[in-house]
Amino acid sequence: MTIIAIDGPAASGKSSVSKRLARRLGFSYVNSGSMYRAVTWELLRQSVDPLNPDSVRTSLDSMELGCGFTPEGESFIRINAQVPDAELKESVVNNNVSTVSAIPAVRHLIVARLRALVNERDVVMEGRDIGSAVFPDAPHKFYLDASPEIRRLRRAAEGQTDSIDLRDKQDSSRAEAPLQVAKGACVVDTSHLTLDGVVEKISQLLAVAGLHPR
Ligand code: DC
Repeated sequence: MTIIAIDGPAASGKSSVSKRLARRLGFSYVNSGSMYRAVTWELLRQSVDPLNPDSVRTSLDSMELGCGFTPEGESFIRINAQVPDAELKESVVNNNVSTVSAIPAVRHLIVARLRALVNERDVVMEGRDIGSAVFPDAPHKFYLDASPEIRRLRRAAEGQTDSIDLRDKQDSSRAEAPLQVAKGACVVDTSHLTLDGVVEKISQLLAVAGLHPR
């Protein structure tokens, strides 16, 4: 199975680029951030305090977290028999997801699910630690970045109001699997590129590496 890892900070363009790239290549698309969001959403729904790692761990013990693919090849998440979607973008989830994702037990649970997913098919997987920790041997790794100003503008255009600066700071400074440029990753600055421009650039780099659309 071939894995293309796309990491980077919030609003660097990862989701749109990864989805489009996956479609172009005939790969499946996995948004690992949705898993962290789903766990955060469920913890909050159960009134578990994200700042209390012991309570989080207790809740994880009985949490049923599953994921798979839709017929269109996109990943979906099932958590305690629910399939959250729009809820994952709620402000309360935005504001707590970095705290929850810094808890090692949460990461271990999700990383195990992500690794199991790629047994099924070729994937473009986006996140923060895909190339550095989840699949350090992935043959194709990219790190998308953009200036903080541009990322803030993109976020606002999406109607999202979370503080990406704070989230990036938390995601980069946590002890386990922090946001970083993975060894061997190609850094792409998307600040002044269109979505098509980024996909084109990555496709060209993949073609040079011998990976072509099916
Ligand atoms: O990609 P996103 O903004 O939906 O991710 C939400 C949060 O999940 C992000 O702030 C940190 C966490 N995350 C992570 O720790 N590791 C990943 N591979 C993906 C996301």
